[in-house]
Amino acid sequence: MNRRTDLIVIGLGITALILIGCATTAPTVNQAQTIPAVSTATTASSSASETPQPPTSTPSATVTKTPSAAPSSAAASPSKKASGTTAPGKPVARGAVTQPPLGTQVNCAVTACVALTFDDGPGTRTAELVQTLAKANVPATFFMLSSVAANNPSGAAAVAANPSMEIANHSISHANLANASAATVNKEMVTSQKRLEKQTGRKITLFRPPYGAMNSTVKKTAASSGQAIITWDVDTLDWKHRTPAKTVSIALSEVSPGSIILMHDIHSSTVKAVPDLIAALNKRGYTMVTVSTLLGSVTPGKVYSHR
Ligand code: NI
Repeated sequence: MNRRTDLIVIGLGITALILIGCATTAPTVNQAQTIPAVSTATTASSSASETPQPPTSTPSATVTKTPSAAPSSAAASPSKKASGTTAPGKPVARGAVTQPPLGTQVNCAVTACVALTFDDGPGTRTAELVQTLAKANVPATFFMLSSVAANNPSGAAAVAANPSMEIANHSISHANLANASAATVNKEMVTSQKRLEKQTGRKITLFRPPYGAMNSTVKKTAASSGQAIITWDVDTLDWKHRTPAKTVSIALSEVSPGSIILMHDIHSSTVKAVPDLIAALNKRGYTMVTVSTLLGSVTPGKVYSHR
């Protein structure tokens, strides 16, 4: 070949290399650009559905041991039930995640967060549960009955000793406050709050009414005592069936980004279910946080059942 042909060949080679380079970088650029589009589409399509999907419509949600799905397909299932009509959009659970170390700030506006909540305790296995949670880097929220905490100071202290675990108020005696007098409501909400603060050294700003039962007096009392009212959107019914596998499968079939999951640390079957539940939620792309982290800033007296 002469010199001119050589130059043409070299020129063509460089062009080919540039084209190959563009081809290999192109998908990365496209992927980054499609993420907001996917999340917008999810929000639009999900606003029609506030009610829990039957487990049969979300095949992956009923299986606890499936291998981790590809990020794109993993996004389809949990986002299906995402609610919120005016919210700008929820993060979508994608591929498997690992819990960040305890104390890490998690931004639930962009992360698919869920909150594990434990009611009616502290129970005889609560200290053990706190150890299990801490080992897995999972913060959780404990809605304590102040009468039970008073009778189980070591259980309450085990929760209070870990700054990543949140302590919240669930009344003194688990009374149904929707039928209670104003004096009873005040005692069950405000006296209980003060007792828990004194016993645990924590500031108590979240209240969960027993049975989720409330009326306007409960809301007014919550507002005046600096407590937001926290219910739930995922009820594992752990107290009823007392079966670890069922606790996990119900949670997985109803969970969506922003969920608040209701359980009870007074039951051994629930304590037993927690390691499997943590693993399954992480596998589906959910990061577990406290209720306060999940909701961000809350308004006293307002009711929250999910983010
Ligand atoms: Ni309760």
